[in-house]
Amino acid sequence: VIVVNDLAHAVPMAKALMAGGIRVLEVTLRTPQGLAAISAIAKEVPEAWVGVGTVRSPQDAQDALNAGARFAVSPGYTSALGHKCRDIGLPLLPGVATSSEIMTAQADGYQQLKFFPAVQAGGLNMLKAWQGPFADVQFCPTGGISMANAAEFLALSNVVCVGGSWLVPAEALQGGQWSLITELAKRATALLP
Ligand code: 3PG
Repeated sequence: VIVVNDLAHAVPMAKALMAGGIRVLEVTLRTPQGLAAISAIAKEVPEAWVGVGTVRSPQDAQDALNAGARFAVSPGYTSALGHKCRDIGLPLLPGVATSSEIMTAQADGYQQLKFFPAVQAGGLNMLKAWQGPFADVQFCPTGGISMANAAEFLALSNVVCVGGSWLVPAEALQGGQWSLITELAKRATALLP
């Protein structure tokens, strides 16, 4: 989960993550540079799988697709967003934090969901509770995930991946500490079996 403030950081940051084995990048729309950063990475680091985060409206999804995003992530879910992404062929990982939101996203055909904000909204216990009624749903928890707890989340049968901002700390990006970002990526990929 990446927040780009300076467009010049986008490509070296993506290369630093790739060098550490992280290939799936969610560049958020939290800054005005987000779309341009996605375009730059899509063009200059084509082996990276770059998507857009913090998508809140159908227009956000369209803009991101036009910029070169290969997938979208949203903090919450609306049917308008779900239908739009389906219509334009942009894979969406919709955010949910309650059972009702899961049911709404499922009704629109989404079975792989982001649990956000994961730690704040119930963490491991919430995911375990959802294994009963939502055995057919797979989750990507984000929000409060770090090296300290990622393995516990990944060990759950209904968790397929995790995400977080810990891989690209704001200070590391600002300071151009590309080797630190590569090192953090290596530590994260070492968590996988
Ligand atoms: C997200 O959008 O997924 C979160 O902001 C990431 O949360 P984190 O900063 O706690 O990793």
